[in-house]
Amino acid sequence: MITYAEIDGFKNLSGIAFEPDSKYNIIVGPNAQGKTNLLEALWILSGCRSFRGSKERDYIALDGSRMSAKIKIRDLVREQRIELDMSRSTASPKTILLNGVKQKGSRALFDVFKCIAFIPDDTEIIKGSPEKRRSFIDMAASQLNPVFVVHINKYNAIMDQRNALLKEIMQGNAPAAVLEIWDRQAAHEGALISYMRNEYVGRINEICGRLYRTISGGSEELELEYKSNIFRPEDFEKPCGEEAYEQYFQKLRDTAEYDIRTGITHAGANRDEIPIKINGVSARDYGSQGQIKSAALVMKLAQAEIYKKRSKEPPVVFLDDVMGELDETRQKFVFDIIKGMQVFITTPNESALLPEIEGKIMRMSGGRLTEEN
Ligand SMILES: Nc1ncnc2c1ncn2[C@@H]1O[C@H](COP(=O)(O)OP(=O)(O)OP(=O)(O)O)[C@@H](O)[C@H]1O
Ligand SMILES: [Mg+2]
Repeated sequence: MITYAEIDGFKNLSGIAFEPDSKYNIIVGPNAQGKTNLLEALWILSGCRSFRGSKERDYIALDGSRMSAKIKIRDLVREQRIELDMSRSTASPKTILLNGVKQKGSRALFDVFKCIAFIPDDTEIIKGSPEKRRSFIDMAASQLNPVFVVHINKYNAIMDQRNALLKEIMQGNAPAAVLEIWDRQAAHEGALISYMRNEYVGRINEICGRLYRTISGGSEELELEYKSNIFRPEDFEKPCGEEAYEQYFQKLRDTAEYDIRTGITHAGANRDEIPIKINGVSARDYGSQGQIKSAALVMKLAQAEIYKKRSKEPPVVFLDDVMGELDETRQKFVFDIIKGMQVFITTPNESALLPEIEGKIMRMSGGRLTEEN
């Protein structure tokens, strides 16, 4: 739970300092005042990249030279401090402090501050490219198990190297035999990622099925599946080990010639798909807007539920402009699941919120926040 927050110089925000309510924090204001920016500034202190895909260099106000964001976060055991400072100077562009101690990267923050964001763009998880679904699963799984990020980063680095090498081989600047070394490493990381994704998709599928049945009044079925292009479902019954690495490696070897001709890697975790079906047909291709919206919401709620079960401390929930769009029944459904969590809600129109949502109301205007009594 966030007990104190301070933000200055992040996008249009300036001089913000407040003590959030332990339950509901409602941020109201007209469009383009900085409501989403506030959630975003808090969110990045969890060590995750911006939920709306902003680049780090765009965090600093256009007419400013530095930004700072700071929170105090309390769990059952203690209160901790997270501080982020960024400056345009190249000498020390970014500093992350955890309890006053300088951190090399943002990984340590993952364990301290866990949060989930619901944003209007979430529907991209359903209707966007396979990459959107992979990154949703990867981010959700990483928050549960930070080791996952390490494998993802390693895998991505190996893929960049492999793809660069493919082009070198194609142009005759490198011997084809060198590729095998990269394939061994890619197989190791790729297999681990595939197994972890399979496990997470299995868990989230179970919960999504149940939640979607409820939200649709029992009339519709939502189903997620993990489709690896290396492993069959029965392969995942055995633990990930030598046999899996070898299987992955062989597949890379089999497609190597084609990869060299085209300059890209065709097999592996970078080509995984996570098909999402409603009543047996692809939600991406056939879903109505309402179905797509509900399916995205259910996936986020399932993520929240997995979290809640896993950790002693519930995650902080950010609801950016999503509640006003939901009818009363669906809002109730959402609030039932996030009960007991600290929530930050933004809306241009507070009358669209359920009357039972009571808490601290704050107004955002021109990047400044004022509390309402
Ligand atoms: N790097 C930046 N420096 C200064 N201002 C910025 C920067 N990036 C974005 N902004 C400004 O922030 C404002 C948008 O803030 P934000 O997206 O938080 O609005 P909002 O209150 O959530 O609005 P809406 O209700 O439309 O979602 C815009 O006025 C935009 O110009
Ligand atoms: Mg907004």
